[in-house]
Amino acid sequence: MEYIPSRICFILLVSTLVASQAPPAWVPLAVRSPYFSAWNNASSPLLNTPNFWNQPGVLGWTGMIRVDGMAYEWMGGDQPSFNSTAVLGWEVTPTRTIYRFQAGTSMQVNITFLTPIEVDDLVKQSIPFSYFYLDAVSMDGQTHELQTYVDISGEWASGNRSETMTWKTTQTDTSTFHQIQLSSANQYQEIVDQAEDTTTYLATRSAPGVDSVVALLGQSRQTFAATGALAGSIPQSSSSISDNGRFPVFSISVDLGNILKTTESLMWAVGAVRNPVIAYTTPLGAVQNRAPYFFVQYQDVQSAIDAFLQDFEDARNRSITLDTKILGDAAKISPALSSVVSLSARQVIGATDVTVSQGSDGSWNASDTKIFMKDVGSSGRVNPVEILYASFPFFLYINPVYAGLLLEPMLEFQSSSQYTQAFAATDLGTTYPRATGNNRTHSQGIELSADLESFPNMSNLLIKGIIGVQAMANISQALGNSNDSILFSNHTQSLLQTWEASAIASVGTRVLNTYGDENSWTLAYNLYADKLLQTGLVNQSIYSSQTEFFKGLSSSSDAQETQFGMPIDSGSSSLSASGIATQADAAWTVFAAATMTDPSVRDGLLQPIYQHIVSNTSNFPYSKVYKLDSTGAVISGRASPALGAFFAPLALSLPFQDIVVPQSISMPSSATTKSIVGPVVGGVVGGLALLSTVVGALLFWRRRQRRQYPHVEKLGVNQSGLRPPTITVFDLSAAPGTASQIDSSVEPSSSSNRNQELLAAAFSSAGPILTSAKYREAMRARDRLQAISPVSAHPVTTPTTNSDSSPTSPASGPVAASPTTSGGLPEVQGLMTEVESLRRAVQEMRAERVEAPPSYSQ
Ligand SMILES: *[C@@H]1O[C@H](CO)[C@@H](O)[C@H](O)[C@H]1NC(C)=O
Ligand SMILES: *[C@@H]1O[C@H](CO)[C@@H](O)[C@H](O)[C@H]1NC(C)=O
Ligand SMILES: *[C@@H]1O[C@H](CO)[C@@H](O)[C@H](O)[C@H]1NC(C)=O
Ligand SMILES: *[C@@H]1O[C@H](CO)[C@@H](O)[C@H](O)[C@H]1NC(C)=O
Ligand SMILES: *[C@@H]1O[C@H](CO)[C@@H](O)[C@H](O)[C@H]1NC(C)=O
Ligand SMILES: *[C@@H]1O[C@H](CO)[C@@H](O)[C@H](O)[C@H]1NC(C)=O
Ligand SMILES: *[C@@H]1O[C@H](CO)[C@@H](O)[C@H](O)[C@H]1NC(C)=O
Ligand SMILES: *[C@@H]1O[C@H](CO)[C@@H](O)[C@H](O)[C@H]1NC(C)=O
Ligand SMILES: *[C@@H]1O[C@H](CO)[C@@H](O)[C@H](O)[C@H]1NC(C)=O
Ligand SMILES: *[C@@H]1O[C@H](CO)[C@@H](O)[C@H](O)[C@H]1NC(C)=O
Ligand SMILES: *[C@@H]1O[C@H](CO)[C@@H](O)[C@H](O)[C@H]1NC(C)=O
Repeated sequence: MEYIPSRICFILLVSTLVASQAPPAWVPLAVRSPYFSAWNNASSPLLNTPNFWNQPGVLGWTGMIRVDGMAYEWMGGDQPSFNSTAVLGWEVTPTRTIYRFQAGTSMQVNITFLTPIEVDDLVKQSIPFSYFYLDAVSMDGQTHELQTYVDISGEWASGNRSETMTWKTTQTDTSTFHQIQLSSANQYQEIVDQAEDTTTYLATRSAPGVDSVVALLGQSRQTFAATGALAGSIPQSSSSISDNGRFPVFSISVDLGNILKTTESLMWAVGAVRNPVIAYTTPLGAVQNRAPYFFVQYQDVQSAIDAFLQDFEDARNRSITLDTKILGDAAKISPALSSVVSLSARQVIGATDVTVSQGSDGSWNASDTKIFMKDVGSSGRVNPVEILYASFPFFLYINPVYAGLLLEPMLEFQSSSQYTQAFAATDLGTTYPRATGNNRTHSQGIELSADLESFPNMSNLLIKGIIGVQAMANISQALGNSNDSILFSNHTQSLLQTWEASAIASVGTRVLNTYGDENSWTLAYNLYADKLLQTGLVNQSIYSSQTEFFKGLSSSSDAQETQFGMPIDSGSSSLSASGIATQADAAWTVFAAATMTDPSVRDGLLQPIYQHIVSNTSNFPYSKVYKLDSTGAVISGRASPALGAFFAPLALSLPFQDIVVPQSISMPSSATTKSIVGPVVGGVVGGLALLSTVVGALLFWRRRQRRQYPHVEKLGVNQSGLRPPTITVFDLSAAPGTASQIDSSVEPSSSSNRNQELLAAAFSSAGPILTSAKYREAMRARDRLQAISPVSAHPVTTPTTNSDSSPTSPASGPVAASPTTSGGLPEVQGLMTEVESLRRAVQEMRAERVEAPPSYSQ
């Protein structure tokens, strides 16, 4: 086999060697918006106080069941004050976390935490509530007296326990609920990532035997344990959250009577409503306070609560349907994949808010729907482009409408006069929930800084840009602007020629990390965009040789193991020179895995990702970037939506659709559009943020014709005519370290070979870091200038957009033409015009969909 850089060694391990005995560190309990994110420390099932995504043990939340006068706690962290239920087992599916308990010797109790993912209903998706429910059955054939108790504390309302909260309890024929909020809500503020403007709810259906009370913690729980009833109501309706350590709690008890089993699930809902959810700067520069989308259907929160509670059985059915679909699709690919998609689904969509604006007449404008994403776990930015890119496989898989609505505010902002930069914005604002736009110049131009690496001619980054230019060619073609399409295509071809000549190892066996550096390698995860978009740019032989390369590494004898995967490229090891330990990126690794042509190599990349999840190394929700040493410690991206990347192999399995554009969409004049080609092609070197957006737009386009949710249609029968697989669960009690596939009627594909290999990597020495923001800046400016069509309706103005962009003249760059004219305002306007027309087109297409968009007006 060919030369392997000596500082990089790999081995393959058989998976049985590394099958973990440990569960994942944290599992989701109620994760539905950036500020509604409750998790359990899985290492002691439910017996700790639940966690906010970045803080252990801060969300007071307790559950007890009382059997024949003896109380058992199943959630809360109050041992040894109460006996606890014994844990029999637990499972995680994409929408549910399920615990099986035993209370004493006589009752078996299941508690399920269900956070719906509503694939085709934006109203339902935007209701910020999450279910939890109890099923119990007698183990001895005898009936037993049962009472249940749940409560939450005011800790859900703020990250500052000294603040004053107020509360209110409502009991109607339909529902019983507590609501808690700060007495002076600080709009759009957060403390330790918890919002200061949340109203938290604990609710259940009203029924005989249902009672509710607000009492001090000790008194409330002790009274229930002793008597099975609630008492000790505190007279006032406000206090500080902690009340000097006495913590008022908001409780609901239900007396189930003397029963053999629960005939239907006993259900509660916990919720965290913010209104408004986001401050959005409109194209005219006004700050718009946007509301949760459910207001288009429900006039107030109470109506939404009633509807949510009444919808429970249907919601559960939909969730089970979705879980079955996701896990079935994943199991066809790899068992490791089933497990990671189960753990990531709620965290991905839980980083978003679905919003609507209010017209001047005060009515909701249901056609103005926008989705916002917080960069949870990292920067806290609004709709961060590189995280959207990573997360898109999830959204495309569940329903591409979500992807479109996430892109729309980006396109709208960038096409407005509010946005003045030549290249695309990196996000819509630096601090969620203020989508006030981001005018920042970004000197790097390329993804912020491409995985913390900074050197020129990165093959992986360049191919992403080239795919982006081709995507523009396809979009132009679809819009009937064949002149632009030809221009983009021509540029693609010349860029691709350079790429193929420089990015592939001389013996043709892998993609090099850096043009011409024969000692380097890269996962080349951006090849995934070529596969997904079917731009048809990358030669099949490149995929094969990449696959062979990672497979061939197994035969290296000079090997050192790390069980948690590999860095994204040989450049990462250079980071150790700057004190940053060698690290893996779970999202990009799965992108790369999805491009492998050999299932065993793909699984060899997936398995360590799974291994890291179950290694319990992090004490936090699953993260995007982590250390590759034995600690596996989190570096960044706890609970990050970027892990929508885990759905990358699933998104590839979706049916491909041609781009179809409705007749009504008109293009701007060719003179205007011509000037776009320069910035876009220049962007290959300088502005990949835009290209990500374009790629995203194309993705949305690509799938737009899919009727709501094709998976649902097919659920009855799978392709081979077999009934669909039953749920493949992530059942840690049953089979540590593996997903247990319950249904044997579905043959595992060759890819799910249990004896799959594990690819591991280790590094010793460091390479140089080339810092070249300046260089790239120059290249960017130069290429932008070079590619501009001499024909332009706009007078060419002299000032360049960047004062520090005096084009140096590197021997040759990816774009071969020579500088002819200067850039500046016209091309910016052209860019904006193009982006605006793209946005309009997307919008119109949505409007023209034969089927209504998800439940706008039911
Ligand atoms: C725990 O259960 C035992 C019997 O199993 C009982 O004696 C004891 O009082 C219980 N403790 C509490 C705190 O309820
Ligand atoms: C609890 O869940 C297990 C496994 O899904 C199931 O077999 C059992 O019947 C459930 N128990 C109750 C009381 O619903
Ligand atoms: C927490 O709230 C208290 C009481 O309102 C206030 O005095 C204190 O400054 C707050 N702390 C922070 C960090 O906001
Ligand atoms: C849920 O699905 C089951 C099985 O398909 C069906 O029998 C039941 O009626 C459904 N429940 C609701 C509320 O739709
Ligand atoms: C509703 O939103 C759409 C899309 O943003 C916009 O075109 C329209 O003018 C809005 N209508 C009102 C009444 O504000
Ligand atoms: C961006 O910059 C322009 C020009 O300085 C300014 O008019 C606009 O308000 C800025 N937009 C935002 C969102 O800051
Ligand atoms: C994009 O255009 C290329 C070249 O014309 C073509 O091969 C490819 O199929 C197109 N892709 C899509 C998604 O239309
Ligand atoms: C694109 O390339 C073809 C063949 O190389 C050439 O004939 C054509 O003129 C080019 N078109 C444009 C618009 O550059
Ligand atoms: C999780 O629980 C285990 C066992 O009780 C404990 O050792 C660990 O510190 C907990 N982790 C967090 C983050 O609370
Ligand atoms: C495309 O280019 C040709 C030749 O330059 C020109 O005649 C034609 O009008 C252009 N078409 C469009 C739609 O701009
Ligand atoms: C980038 O790659 C091109 C083409 O291989 C090469 O000519 C150029 O020198 C490289 N630039 C740097 C800074 O290495």
